[in-house]
Amino acid sequence: MYQTGFGNSFESEAVEGSLPKSRNNPRKVPFDLYAEQLSGTAFTRPRCVNQRTWLYRQQPSAVHNINPFRPTEQYFGGADPTGGILDPNPLRWQPLEDKNWATVDFLSGMHLLASSGEPATKCGLAIYMYNFGKSMKDYFYNADGDFLIVPQEGTLQIRTEMGRFCVAPTEICVIPRGITFAVHEMEGDPEVRKRGYVLEIYKGHFELPELGPIGSNGLANARDFQYPVAWYETLEQFTTQSNPCLYNKFGGKMWTKPVSSTPLNVVAWHGNYLPFKYALSKFCAINSVSYDHLDPSIYTVLTCVGDESGTALCDFVIFPPRWMSTDPNTFRPPWFHRNTMTEFMGLIVGSYDAKKGFAAGGASLHSCMTAHGPDAFSYDRAVADPCDKPSFFDAGLAFMFETSYMLRLSKYALEHECLDTDYGECWRGLPNRYASKKEE
Ligand code: FE2
Repeated sequence: MYQTGFGNSFESEAVEGSLPKSRNNPRKVPFDLYAEQLSGTAFTRPRCVNQRTWLYRQQPSAVHNINPFRPTEQYFGGADPTGGILDPNPLRWQPLEDKNWATVDFLSGMHLLASSGEPATKCGLAIYMYNFGKSMKDYFYNADGDFLIVPQEGTLQIRTEMGRFCVAPTEICVIPRGITFAVHEMEGDPEVRKRGYVLEIYKGHFELPELGPIGSNGLANARDFQYPVAWYETLEQFTTQSNPCLYNKFGGKMWTKPVSSTPLNVVAWHGNYLPFKYALSKFCAINSVSYDHLDPSIYTVLTCVGDESGTALCDFVIFPPRWMSTDPNTFRPPWFHRNTMTEFMGLIVGSYDAKKGFAAGGASLHSCMTAHGPDAFSYDRAVADPCDKPSFFDAGLAFMFETSYMLRLSKYALEHECLDTDYGECWRGLPNRYASKKEE
């Protein structure tokens, strides 16, 4: 069961009568619950962007302070987010596989690919991939930023303080900064690999892009975003036998401490600072119906605003199944280009219309001003296509994290055996036809 509508203020109670009426912090909370506010923005942010949620829980989060957080001496995802290497070459990875996926969970199966900026000043972003096969026995919250999770293989069951939801490939979810959660396998699901991509933003929150002259509808419609209803782990579900811990990503490092009761103990809540999910199949694509392939920003699902008007810290963009209805003299795949923004791409399912060797579960990176575009095969095929009637592109679902930051690559990304060392070769075979014609 879900509540719907992007950015709405919702309320939910797992037990009837547990949500206080008409006030946030009564002296006597129903059922002797504790009131706790979780702020996602500064108290004083303008009302239209202010985000907070009131939680009514069996014990306040502060009870876990009995045990201090201790650093694990590991950087989250296996690499220092303030380190990494800048590389101007176009890079591509074949589907990223980790041999130990069956023995790790969402947290331990996460690997940093690239990042920029640093969490302490709430500036920048990071990109990860996960490969795992086990449910988490622990709990986690990220003090450094918001996670946008893009499953590529395997459905996730995500248990949060505000409720539970499932996220399958071709769906996405967002877990904002500070919300405690755990990622589980689906009940009854055989042990299959879960693989996917994660974008972390250190600043602000994800929002819907402005629509400008498009009007009040289209792209990701607000009504299609789904929010959970209140739910909590029962005493029976929480067991200390497995020594559960609460992990906290703080300053790029993992901190941990044991917990003697579940952090997922919220009985009722109200507010607008919440995790949510969205099915990418519901995206209403807007495109040219006359001529020219337009900029990919027309496929923006969610954005995180940067420091400059119209320049995102990072956009989440998809290339969904869609009609292509431009005139016969339009080159329909993406054009050759160089971009001041940095483009990280992934492929959720199928194939991509500008590249032959880009496989589902793989990734590519075209950094600031790095030349790229269709490979020679795709270029020749598109030029030969008469484009004399509309066609439906249904070959796959790719996405892009497009950021105004240059991305530093992790050792994991640069040394992984899945790194395609011949990627540049795909542009061989684009001859100088102009010179040959002049000689004729
Ligand atoms: Fe591009």
